[in-house]
Amino acid sequence: MNGIKFDFSNVFHPNIENGLTEEEINDQGNRVQDIVETIIQNNPGFLNLPFTRVYIDRVLDLKTWIQSFESVVVLGIGGSALGNQALQTALNPLHYNALSKEIRKTPKIFILDNVDPDFIASVLDQIDPKTTLFNVISKSGTTAEAMANYLVARGIIEGYGLDPKKHFLFTTDPEKGILKKIAEEEGIKTLDIPPSIGGRFSVLTPVGLLSALASGIDIIDLYNGAKEMHKRVTNPNIWENPAAFNALVHYLYYQKGYNISVMMSYSNKLFLLADWYRQLWAESLGKKYNLKGEVVNVGQTPIKALGTTDQHSQVQLYNEGPYDKVITFIQLENFERNIKIPNIHCDLPELSYLGGKNLSALLNTELAGTEYALTENNRPNLKVIFPQINPFNVGQFIFAYEFQTAVMGNLLDINPYDQPGVELGKKVTYALMGRKGYEDFNIEVENKLKN
Ligand code: PA5
Repeated sequence: MNGIKFDFSNVFHPNIENGLTEEEINDQGNRVQDIVETIIQNNPGFLNLPFTRVYIDRVLDLKTWIQSFESVVVLGIGGSALGNQALQTALNPLHYNALSKEIRKTPKIFILDNVDPDFIASVLDQIDPKTTLFNVISKSGTTAEAMANYLVARGIIEGYGLDPKKHFLFTTDPEKGILKKIAEEEGIKTLDIPPSIGGRFSVLTPVGLLSALASGIDIIDLYNGAKEMHKRVTNPNIWENPAAFNALVHYLYYQKGYNISVMMSYSNKLFLLADWYRQLWAESLGKKYNLKGEVVNVGQTPIKALGTTDQHSQVQLYNEGPYDKVITFIQLENFERNIKIPNIHCDLPELSYLGGKNLSALLNTELAGTEYALTENNRPNLKVIFPQINPFNVGQFIFAYEFQTAVMGNLLDINPYDQPGVELGKKVTYALMGRKGYEDFNIEVENKLKN
């Protein structure tokens, strides 16, 4: 079975003052082995998910119903949206919604992960509420953005005199939260988000599976890829475990002042995997306190970039700016489509060298050029290589990076599964928007804002 490959050959730079050596990896081998074993023992919610059938079966049960709609609109934010977007972009044709129904066959998918009225209105303009399913996704069932968009959608459905039971599906905590309560009272269908899995680790739960299945993505193969990667990332040998190795590389460079992790995709379809990674790495690892409760203020800033587009925007900085970035390239070997550049202007050397070549060859040559330049400039870089884009390989990627994040959390001695910084912002919004129960906090915040 084809799978994704990791190429770490350009991460070692023994010749520069703060470069990484193989000895440093070996020195940490036992520590990382202990970390891998501890993660397996602690069994965080995401770890055994690919071996669980219950969530996938529940989503599959709804297949006929969800695919009977013209549009499926996801209302969620953060971990309740970014995985969906990554799956849709990677595994459906780009501009999927613009394809005709005959070609598409499955519903249009819209993901509303903001409350910008121009954005929301522009999507609402494109759907017919009578043939739309709104999938409200919120683990907590309280996040202001998801709830506001739910109310907007509900207002439209009620305005058309439609039955909310037929147009809403809630994906939320199986026990808690207002969505669960409304669903129980009104008979709205629900999908469970396992309580042990936090938002940004939840793409392989019904959070990401529902919209994926709605658009015809093979969710079983997504799980098969994750399962296969489980074998690789639970290997205690650091040299054979790509997730642990990659975490350690990032950790060791971070210790040397490399505070930035760039993920640069040389595939438009895989670009939003970098967006998903950006949240996973930032929200899991950016922490004030370590596990002993000491203030540490750690975290490595993730940046997403697109090749070749960002060669003309970012790469100058990556090559010659501060020594503070570890760069991960995402390479695609075989593109689904190809375009041959025509042999026109054969007498003009500025153009003739391109004639007869494929665009994919140009793209991957540009990647090789950037990789070469970065390496020449002693900039640590590595590659995740997709032989092709399919659910299996995307499932592998997701699982590898979830595990890598868990390892990095352990190396940094922080809890990668909480997000107190995000929670504070949410509470301030509730207070300032006048939510009941937040009156005292409102006064405190208003006072601070005045001073
Ligand atoms: O990763 C996380 O926990 C967050 O990004 C959440 O997914 C995000 O804040 C949305 O939360 P909820 O699903 O509870 O609405």
